[in-house]
Amino acid sequence: MLLQNTLYSVLLSLLVSNGVLASPFGRFGDINRRPKGGPSKVKQLLEREPQAKQQSTQFKYLSNATSAFQVKSMPDFSFDIGEMYSGLIPVKSGDTSKEVFFVFQPNVVNPNDKTLTIWLNGGPGCSSLEGFFQENGRFVWPPGYDAPFENPYAWTNLTNMLWVEHPIGVGFNKGTPTATTEEQVSSDFVGFLKNFETTFGIENYKIYVTGESYAGRYVPYVSAAVLNQKDKNYFDLGGSMMYDPCIGQYDTVQEDTVVVPFIKANQQFFPFSASQMSSLEKSHKSCGYDTYIDTYLQFPPPKKQPAIAASKSGCGLFNTAYNEISNINECFNVYDVNQTCPTPVDQLGDNPYFNRADVKAAFHAPSTTTWTECSNNNVFVGGYGRGPEGEGDLSADSIQKVLPQVLEATNRVIVGNGDYDMIIITNGTLLAIQNMTWNGDLGFQSKPATPVLLPDGSSGGVQHQERGLLWTESFKTGHMGPEYAPYIAYKQVQWLLGQIDTL
Ligand SMILES: *[C@@H]1O[C@H](CO)[C@@H](O)[C@H](O)[C@H]1NC(C)=O
Ligand SMILES: *[C@@H]1O[C@H](CO)[C@@H](O)[C@H](O)[C@H]1NC(C)=O
Ligand SMILES: *[C@@H]1O[C@H](CO)[C@@H](O)[C@H](O)[C@H]1NC(C)=O
Ligand SMILES: *[C@@H]1O[C@H](CO)[C@@H](O)[C@H](O)[C@H]1NC(C)=O
Ligand SMILES: *[C@@H]1O[C@H](CO)[C@@H](O)[C@H](O)[C@H]1NC(C)=O
Repeated sequence: MLLQNTLYSVLLSLLVSNGVLASPFGRFGDINRRPKGGPSKVKQLLEREPQAKQQSTQFKYLSNATSAFQVKSMPDFSFDIGEMYSGLIPVKSGDTSKEVFFVFQPNVVNPNDKTLTIWLNGGPGCSSLEGFFQENGRFVWPPGYDAPFENPYAWTNLTNMLWVEHPIGVGFNKGTPTATTEEQVSSDFVGFLKNFETTFGIENYKIYVTGESYAGRYVPYVSAAVLNQKDKNYFDLGGSMMYDPCIGQYDTVQEDTVVVPFIKANQQFFPFSASQMSSLEKSHKSCGYDTYIDTYLQFPPPKKQPAIAASKSGCGLFNTAYNEISNINECFNVYDVNQTCPTPVDQLGDNPYFNRADVKAAFHAPSTTTWTECSNNNVFVGGYGRGPEGEGDLSADSIQKVLPQVLEATNRVIVGNGDYDMIIITNGTLLAIQNMTWNGDLGFQSKPATPVLLPDGSSGGVQHQERGLLWTESFKTGHMGPEYAPYIAYKQVQWLLGQIDTL
């Protein structure tokens, strides 16, 4: 497919010219992780204080079967890390050819909690240890911090957390990628999950599947696979949540169609010349994107959106704009448009934490595997540029079937987007929702308008619920929702678990 090839070569040349290790796949994963733009000075993204932690006493999940997985220390983390496990568990018991790496941190507040919340990062090809280490784990070390700290909004306050490297080909996982569909990688996942649950004595728990970015495909497909097991002992799905997710036609609908209005709304971060701006606006019109938005970003939507074959030449406006802004601001971060130079130091970028020998030993990870945050090899092998997102992953977009299935089965799904994310744009995600039929209707029937209030009473975003779907827009928030808007993420988990009715 010419479109995808063109798109890749543009993006690849951007990646290479930025000095970032390029991988042909995993376009959501690895664009801006490494410091550049002069001597690195730590930029404080959020004000959060490190805290000391008292000694833990009892370990609920420690048994002969799990003791080999117990994590007793995390190098550089000067906390009592409490109860934590990690290691490899096979997809099929007794078969070591395919094994999946996980980190498990039980609920620290309520040991009797019978919920298990799974977190998946995207890519495809990126490791969910990013979520554990920088977004929603009990102890985190996000980019820009000199030291790790205890996360006041850790999801482990609310639920038992399981971060899983997904699929085969990612991180420490063992095995050679052979999958061409989401159905195949989800089948591996449920095999792993059953083995994990039996190892840890977990039965009759409510399962929640969450994640971000390309996990807009993983989360609904894994959730559907969990439902399809029809086994409440091990596979009782309670709901699902996805941040800045690739749920629809992502290149066109979630990026190209909406990128010019996004730039206009965020002009302070895009100091384009008048002629650059007018050329983008002209293309926005001539490519029909203005009409597309006027027609389909309506509540309720008038009808289904047409299938999109390929962008017309000159209409790949995301790449055009990204290229132009990267020439102006060498520290531009497509995941957080309000990032300025210097790029914050990232413990998962160069010389990543999880590739250290002492860390691998502490986490029971294979010592000979070279861990990178995003895989340098394809994790889907359906062919270069093939599949609806061009990732060699041939499954249909989530909005077509699996996301409606999960919604109708659980009536408890969150789709959220951050307004400072350029790689998956808020209004693009809304457009994708407006092309989804669930619980008897197409899209949202009324326009999202209810504020999400922050602790100080100010509005931090918009929330909207219809027919089991909670939509959230978070202001001033980048791609990684739990990292950039931890308070809102904490409330989202409370909603997901059924503890509150609105954020
Ligand atoms: C656990 O292992 C110990 C020694 O390795 C053994 O004595 C004990 O019986 C085992 N417990 C169970 C429940 O298997
Ligand atoms: C999480 O639990 C800890 C105590 O374990 C508490 O200090 C912290 O305030 C809790 N966070 C929230 C957001 O409630
Ligand atoms: C998103 O769409 C709404 C209409 O629903 C519009 O008012 C708003 O300006 C758009 N935002 C951006 C950033 O394009
Ligand atoms: C909208 O949904 C229809 C039918 O489900 C599908 O054929 C079409 O490709 C979708 N369009 C987009 C842009 O996702
Ligand atoms: C951009 O981020 C900085 C913190 O790094 C913050 O102080 C500032 O308010 C943000 N600007 C906008 C417009 O959100």
